[in-house]
Amino acid sequence: MKRRDFLKSAAAGTGLLILPRSMLLGAGAPSNKLNVALIGTWGRGGAHFDSVASENVVALCDINEQHMEVPAKRWPNAKTYVDWRKCLDQKGIDAVVCATTDFTHAFVANWALNRDMHVYCEKPLGNTVEESRVVRANYLKRKSRLATQLGTQRHANPNFNRTQELIRDGAIGEVSDTYAWGNRQIPKPGYLPAEGEPPAYLHYDLWLGPVPFHPYNPEYFAGGPGANCLKWNMYWDFGSGQIGDMGSHTMDLIWNAMGGGLPTTFEAKGDPFNAEVTPVKMESHFNLPANDWRGPITVSWYQGGAMPRAPRPYIDLNKIGHGAMFKGSKGYLICDFDSRILVPFRDTDDLSYYNRREKDKMLPNLGSFQKEWINACKGNLKTSVDFDYGGTMTETMLLGLVAYRAGKKLDYDGATGRITNDEAANALLSKKYRDGWTLNG
Ligand SMILES: NC(=O)c1ccc[n+]([C@@H]2O[C@H](COP(=O)([O-])OP(=O)(O)OC[C@H]3O[C@@H](n4cnc5c(N)ncnc54)[C@H](O)[C@@H]3O)[C@@H](O)[C@H]2O)c1
Repeated sequence: MKRRDFLKSAAAGTGLLILPRSMLLGAGAPSNKLNVALIGTWGRGGAHFDSVASENVVALCDINEQHMEVPAKRWPNAKTYVDWRKCLDQKGIDAVVCATTDFTHAFVANWALNRDMHVYCEKPLGNTVEESRVVRANYLKRKSRLATQLGTQRHANPNFNRTQELIRDGAIGEVSDTYAWGNRQIPKPGYLPAEGEPPAYLHYDLWLGPVPFHPYNPEYFAGGPGANCLKWNMYWDFGSGQIGDMGSHTMDLIWNAMGGGLPTTFEAKGDPFNAEVTPVKMESHFNLPANDWRGPITVSWYQGGAMPRAPRPYIDLNKIGHGAMFKGSKGYLICDFDSRILVPFRDTDDLSYYNRREKDKMLPNLGSFQKEWINACKGNLKTSVDFDYGGTMTETMLLGLVAYRAGKKLDYDGATGRITNDEAANALLSKKYRDGWTLNG
């Protein structure tokens, strides 16, 4: 039996398959622990240490050698790397946690999937529409044997389930329009000027990886752990600004409640275009086709000061920094990551039509989002935010930026990933990479 099949049958047959300890731990014997590689081992990477501690951490990779010191003490037998391509060559890796920069997520995810490794990848799934689509396609080809999870861990907050239940049970009637927003603003004029030399422990050329050269500046690395992404994710080559950042979490409220998909048309507007920096203020609007239980809906994203209109003058949506709103035929549901309110329209919208579910029919709590993935790798491969769900969400968000750049309403064929009413705009779906870097290697 192959090691991967062994892990799955060991987990699936819990209670039936009793394994002798010698078989679990003997030299070269298969074990019921995953061999995990951590790529990006500081900042957000650190948020994964405890959830993988139950497994064998066999490889650590970071372009900053100092950032591997703490995990190397915790897992002294793990091999260390500064280049993730070499790390993924290590034999016997079952699963990869990727917490690197946004502009390397799709690369790491594709290379890992192509080597038959399970992947947990921090959000967003890619930095271009093409990147997100290629990861999703690679996952769909292998979903019968690999488990994936996009790092939108707020998804495990019970409020995600409560919101979904209210929507699906008809608390606001038939939903036609959905809105999500984030108020974070990090204005920058352009890429940072050259300043100083990278320290010996920081492999700056590997940090840049696939993107065009930009001179070193220590400010790109000056953020605190888990917040350093706010030092680089607003620059076009390095990130997608707030739509890909907090948008990944907030649009997840909509995807979870409504079921996602790919838009047929979309448009956007915002700050004047800056070729180096993504817009602070921006709004984008998507038309999503019907799915198997609902009609077509609109999805709108607002950021950096742009906001949807409140359903009543006494409701101040600005008080919700990162929130979502659903408009149905009978009223509104407004929520953030932890709480929700219903706003029926009229006296006739008296909630009598709402079939509140019994307590024993309520969706169970997810528990740990990271553990859900670990268990899925060893079990039924099912996760809440796999690369299909997370892929269509990331692709949609990034299409918003494409429409912003094109400056017009675009029609989209989600099956082929082509814009059908503006041939030139298709150039905005992908990027050229530096020599030596292959997206789908
Ligand atoms: N899910 C969440 O709530 C959440 C929170 C914060 C950040 N994030 C995401 O996590 C990612 C990392 O964010 P961060 O703030 O920790 O950033 P960061 O700049 O601190 O990078 C994290 C680590 O990855 C390393 N790294 C960078 N490029 C690498 C590469 N090519 N190969 C190997 N290691 C590399 C860095 O040296 C650092 O140790 C971002 O994509 C961000 O969107 C998610």
